[in-house]
Amino acid sequence: MSHDVKSKSRVLHPRIVLGLLACAGIAATGSVRAADQDGWYTQDQATRGHQLFNNYCAQCHRPDLKGAAGPALVGDAFLQKWGNKPLSELFGFEHSKMPATNPGSVPDDSLWSITAYILQKNGLPAGSVALSQPTGASRVLAAK
Ligand code: HEC
Repeated sequence: MSHDVKSKSRVLHPRIVLGLLACAGIAATGSVRAADQDGWYTQDQATRGHQLFNNYCAQCHRPDLKGAAGPALVGDAFLQKWGNKPLSELFGFEHSKMPATNPGSVPDDSLWSITAYILQKNGLPAGSVALSQPTGASRVLAAK
């Protein structure tokens, strides 16, 4: 008798767990979608990117990103050039050509943070998901 009850509860239990997992899955997918629509990077990441930009990039692009030895990384001309194409092209350029004096010397995760900061300075909003290869590479910036 007691054995029957036990095995019954063993049969039911995984179904309940599966049901809960399915609900959690739907909720998680929903929040990722919302983050995709609303934000491109996290505020923390952009703050880190700001520091890194000042260390690696500001000497040529200026701390306000308006350009000096290198072109401006904010404004309509910048968004015209890098808009309407996947963000991976901008990242790829930074990765293979920047910093101009020592290309490829900045680790990828730092470069994504720098890119987050550049997006922030171009008016793109922060969200709940950090910018990275999987979350950002295929997203397309709106051209100005
Ligand atoms: C030693 C000077 C120098 C440093 C340091 C430097 N850049 Fe540049 N950057 C340039 C020059 C010069 C160009 C233009 C070269 C070209 O278009 O091929 C450029 C172009 C760019 C562009 C393309 C802009 C456009 O619209 O044409 C991006 C993006 C960029 N740099 C990002 C960065 C980032 C990010 C860093 C820091 C990791 C960095 N740069 C560091 C000199 C520099």
